[in-house]
Amino acid sequence: MKKRLIVGISGATGIVYGIRLLEALREAGIESHLVVSKAAELTRAYETNLSSQNLRDLAAVSYPIGDVGAAIASGSFQTMGMIVAPCSVKTMSELANGITSNLLTRAGDVVLKERRRLVLLLRESPLTAIHIRNMLALTESGAIIAPPVPAFYARPQTLDDMVRHTIGRALDLFDIDTNFQRWGEESNNQGKGNHETHQEPARVYSRA
Ligand SMILES: Cc1cc2nc3c(=O)[nH]c(=O)nc-3n(C[C@H](O)[C@H](O)[C@H](O)COP(=O)(O)O)c2cc1C
Repeated sequence: MKKRLIVGISGATGIVYGIRLLEALREAGIESHLVVSKAAELTRAYETNLSSQNLRDLAAVSYPIGDVGAAIASGSFQTMGMIVAPCSVKTMSELANGITSNLLTRAGDVVLKERRRLVLLLRESPLTAIHIRNMLALTESGAIIAPPVPAFYARPQTLDDMVRHTIGRALDLFDIDTNFQRWGEESNNQGKGNHETHQEPARVYSRA
């Protein structure tokens, strides 16, 4: 079987997580199948300089959000599973309740029913009891809720370091090894940094 992973990008802030994920999959030689929600087209425009086509070009295959007849809408299309990065509350709530109003949530529902791995980088704070109940329902159905919370032990120097660490940890859940700072392993940063906050400006995702 070809190594394929479905990538869903929904309309929570932090579309950079989806961008870095697609880049990491390409580097790892995994075939990415991308579906982007309508709201994520908004966050793309707010948060990056990428066109819709630039974003789709990062994936091996991409599908329109309304194409509920696409390959990834069927369980007979074999994949390793799916990561939604970032995952909005709305998309998470649909998935928790078996609602499949677009291709992104249909693909996620299929991943769950086929007992494949579904990882949601849910981005919202603070959380309500409704959110937490939905997270529990998904966890009980086998999904993994993995909010993109930064780790500071690796002494990240840039926002991009933090994003790459989060994506590396998410891909670990699929046994896809990427190059990021792991606890207990040598790094170029270790021992060099001080404890002052050193923050470079966020990179601009321009493909001009
Ligand atoms: C700039 C921007 C940032 C947003 N950030 C979040 C967020 O972090 N988490 C969230 O759940 N929704 C966020 N939203 C709201 C969602 O986009 C909205 O609920 C939308 O209906 C989600 O649809 P989708 O899940 O189909 O992408 C944001 C919207 C915009 C325009």
